[in-house]
Amino acid sequence: MKSNRIIIFDTTLRDGEQCPGASMNLREKLEVARQLARLKVDVIEAGFPVISDGDFEAVHTIAKEIKGPIICGLARCVTKDIDAAGAAVKPAGKKGRIHVFLATSKIHREFKLGKAQDAILRLAVEGVKRAKSWVHDVEFSPEDASRTEPEFLIEVCKAVVKAGATVVNIPDTVGWAVPEQYGALIKRLFDSVPEFKSGKAIISVHCHNDLGLAVANSLAAIHNGARQVECTVNGIGERAGNAALEEIVMATQTRSDFYSGFSCGVNSKEIVKSSRLVSRMSGLIVQRSKAIVGENAFAHSSGIHQDGILKKRETYEIMDPQKVGWGKTELPLTKHSGRAAVAVRLKHLGFKMTEADVNALFAKFKEIGDKKKFVYDEDLVTLVEGQITEVPETWTLHYLSVTTGTNVVPTATVRLTKAGVKKGEVETFEDAGIGDGPVDAALKAIDRLTRTRGKLRDYSLRSVSEGKDALGEVTVKADFGNGQLVTGKGASTDIIEASARAYLNAMNRFLCDRKRALPAEQP
Ligand code: KIV
Ligand code: ZN
Repeated sequence: MKSNRIIIFDTTLRDGEQCPGASMNLREKLEVARQLARLKVDVIEAGFPVISDGDFEAVHTIAKEIKGPIICGLARCVTKDIDAAGAAVKPAGKKGRIHVFLATSKIHREFKLGKAQDAILRLAVEGVKRAKSWVHDVEFSPEDASRTEPEFLIEVCKAVVKAGATVVNIPDTVGWAVPEQYGALIKRLFDSVPEFKSGKAIISVHCHNDLGLAVANSLAAIHNGARQVECTVNGIGERAGNAALEEIVMATQTRSDFYSGFSCGVNSKEIVKSSRLVSRMSGLIVQRSKAIVGENAFAHSSGIHQDGILKKRETYEIMDPQKVGWGKTELPLTKHSGRAAVAVRLKHLGFKMTEADVNALFAKFKEIGDKKKFVYDEDLVTLVEGQITEVPETWTLHYLSVTTGTNVVPTATVRLTKAGVKKGEVETFEDAGIGDGPVDAALKAIDRLTRTRGKLRDYSLRSVSEGKDALGEVTVKADFGNGQLVTGKGASTDIIEASARAYLNAMNRFLCDRKRALPAEQP
């Protein structure tokens, strides 16, 4: 029996986080999970617990703190993975799910696993049974399903459902499928496995975007019997990403004539807020023309379009921007606004903060209020997110002076303090550097002081709000020698200072992650 409720399974914190340089710390993941709960997704895949202590802790904390959605942990078909996932999702009780995966395609069987079909079938069934000993709700994914021989795929589906899987996911792992063919595959599975027809188990889809078809494939699957769609906010994920949550949700809502009767529980008004939070927490910028959540998604520049919109909005606008959370902002605050006004605005923006957090934020608000005439909601959000992305500071910026111009060599003088091994102990270092430009000079001075040679792989600057006095937010991705990208963020009305802060944020994050200090002596 086909129910027409589509389950939205969000994997921003698992597949999304697999994007190079997108890794988030516990506080960042928790903040994203809170927003996903406000967005009212049905399932949050919170991570891959066996991978590291950090991943385990994130899934465990999310399972303990987030109420509403099902909390899911990923596991290979291996006992230690499944047990780690089971222990991590335990605090979610009946709302805990284990997602077990094992590759089934010929190419993966032969070249990756070195296993024949019967061994794969046996391992899949054993994995599902092991997961069932932890939770009732077990999802199984035959990895690279879209390139698996359909007859074998049907056999796998039947076997795992019989072993107790409540959801069978059909991943298009390498983004190889095209909509007509993928839809036909889902229909064939739906018609071949009695438990899919009876509703005892459901088909899920998980599409990657290598050919730009992830959303189209997912939508084709819905029409052919799939009832769970796996997706990520902003479509972030491995390689070209996953199906974008906002596009799936708004396609089915906007074209309810075509997807008649289908519905999901997502609160679309939270989409833009979710997009911005994920972008800032992951350091992955949303392109301006991105559907639904890009800056230009509802901007009409041509005169003909503007004229049409003024006469009747629907002439050129198929969705109401307010339905996805674009809307008018509240009156801005100023330096004269008091702590209570700031606290009320933060609550209105959806942040749950302790009194100590509000106090710390209020001090920063006052600093900004002194520099700019108005403090907009976007400025406040940037300040809060700055607090969330803070990491223990090994190195702190205390002073920065830059000389630059058309006929001078850009020079930066920087003073940093370094937290000592003993609590409360700090050392001060000062040096100057020259560079191709003021940012280069400042970062080179920081490198000399900290004895690092970080490679800047990506640098972006955006204006947080409007006006010439706007806060500039810099996001950097740097490699500090181990080949891994670390994201750092910094905001200031001075973009050179924002750049230095972003670079130091990345360095502190690297040091924190590695729990490894750089040499203490002054260069
Ligand atoms: O793309 C994929 O196959 C996956 C599985 C783990 C579901 O992410
Ligand atoms: Zn995937």
